[in-house]
Parts: sequence; structure tokens; C-alpha cells
Amino acid sequence: MHARAATAVTTALLGTVALLLPAAGVRAVEDGTPPAVIAHRGASAYAPENTLAAVDRAARLGAVWVENDVQRTRDGKLVVLHDDSLARTTDVEQVFPGRAPWKVKDFTAAEVARLDAGSWFGASYAGARVPTLKQYLDRVDLHRQKLLLELKNPELYPGIERETLKLLSNEGWLDQAHRGRLVVQSFSAASLRTVHDLKPGVKTGFLGTPSMADLHAYADFTDQINPSHTSLSRAYVSAVQAFTGPHGKPLEVCTWTVNTADAARRVAGYGVDGIITNKPDVVRDALRR
Ligand code: G3P
Ligand code: CA
Repeated sequence: MHARAATAVTTALLGTVALLLPAAGVRAVEDGTPPAVIAHRGASAYAPENTLAAVDRAARLGAVWVENDVQRTRDGKLVVLHDDSLARTTDVEQVFPGRAPWKVKDFTAAEVARLDAGSWFGASYAGARVPTLKQYLDRVDLHRQKLLLELKNPELYPGIERETLKLLSNEGWLDQAHRGRLVVQSFSAASLRTVHDLKPGVKTGFLGTPSMADLHAYADFTDQINPSHTSLSRAYVSAVQAFTGPHGKPLEVCTWTVNTADAARRVAGYGVDGIITNKPDVVRDALRR
């Protein structure tokens, strides 16, 4: 364990606040700016999650960061969808009634493109589509937003790390112009290790709450530890931020999914670097106050 990290863990275990070290990337703790507000699946409280409409809504609410979920179709196209099944957020059961359980990986991109991904949320969103990752990147770029890209269920899609990085590269997202505008996150540590090995310059985030004793291992390949806000404490945030990540900067903490003003103020008080929320306006207003 790094000496600085060991000190912080000890301090945290004693119940006192560890020294906050300068963070980098998502925000700069040292200059007193509030945590970054990250629109979860877009502004998903107000528009159907993971659609272009949710990106647009996030932009209108002033959200600089959006989060999404990337999976793969049967014919190898990367698409943006949260569940491994299309059933909850599209009309796939009506369009393809004989294809239960309607897994994304069992449908071609052309089939997915036929689905309505908006009506389940509200009639005014009828006709919204499941975006391809390319379409999604273009829209985020249009708004000059930043992207927290989640590799969802990577164990279902061998090779998705390389394919995602290739698309990001082809679309210019690994260029200097996009520096500081991309983090790739996952619940799978193995997947993040692969991303880091393939493209060491790309920032990564691990979704979960590793024990303090295990944090040193994550600091080899991930720049962020992104836990549920329900499992968060000030001591844990301080312990994470005391480690130095693979890019020589303190590890960051972006916590999810924070949808109330009280919770936003609580985690901001812990010193988190980012807050992932379905309601970016609520979090933004809470932090201003
Ligand atoms: O970004 C954090 C969050 O998206 C992880 O959970 O299930 O909403 O993808 P989930
Ligand atoms: Ca997600």
C-alpha cells in the first residue's frame, strides 16, 4: 500500500477526517468548486433513459456530464441501453412477440432500430429510438458535453472493450480535443483492466465499494471508485482520494444515484468529486444553496 494511502486508511478507521488531497479531472477540490453533476442515463427522470432525448434534456438543464450504458447487438453493433433485455424500455414484446426473453444480444441492429424506446415513458416521446453508440457520441459532442460511458454486462460481450475503444477512437473521442471529456466505467474490474491495458491514457471508473484494504489494487488501473451513495461515508471518500491513480492524480469518487437535495448535500459534504443523478436540476440547485 502507498504510504499516503495507508495513512489515510488509518485515519479513517480512527473516525477522523483524512486530509483532502487535490483531485483532478472531474473537478478540482482545492479550488472549492462543487462536485460535477452527471446526468444518469441522461436526464432520465424527465425523458426516456439512454435516448437522445435524455441527452438533449440534460443539455437543456445545463448538465455538462451524461452517463450511459453500452451493450452489443447480435451483429456486433454497439448500442445504448441499460437492461440486457429490450423488454422494459421498448415495445419489443409487441414487435417481436415470439422472441422472449428479448435479449439485446439476440437482436440485430436493424431490428433494434425498429423499436420504440420512448412510449413506455410518455406519449410525447413516442418514436424515440435505442441509439447506437455512434449516434449517442455525436449528440453528446453536439452539446459539447462530457461522457461517463458504462460498459454494461461486459461478460456477455467478449471483446466489447476493444470494440468500444475503436469506435471512440474513430469518432475522435480519444483525441486531444476530447481530453478530460471521457471516463469509461464498469462494475467489472476485469473489463476495466482490459480497457486500461489497451488504452492506458483513457480514464476509468470502478462501480462499487471495494474494501479500504483492497483500494490499493484498484489504483493500478482505475482513476475513480464510484459507489452507491447508500454505502458512502466521509471516511470512505477520504480513503479513496488518498490513493494515487494510474495517471498520477488522486483517485476520484462519483456516487450514484442521488435524486434528492438532502442526499446531494450529504454526499457533497463528504467531498465527492461527482454526483450521478436522474435529476441534474435538483442536485445542481441543492449544491448552489
Ligand atoms: O453510473 C452509476 C450507475 O449507472 C450504475 O448503476 O444500474 O444505473 O447502471 P446502473
Ligand atoms: Ca449505468
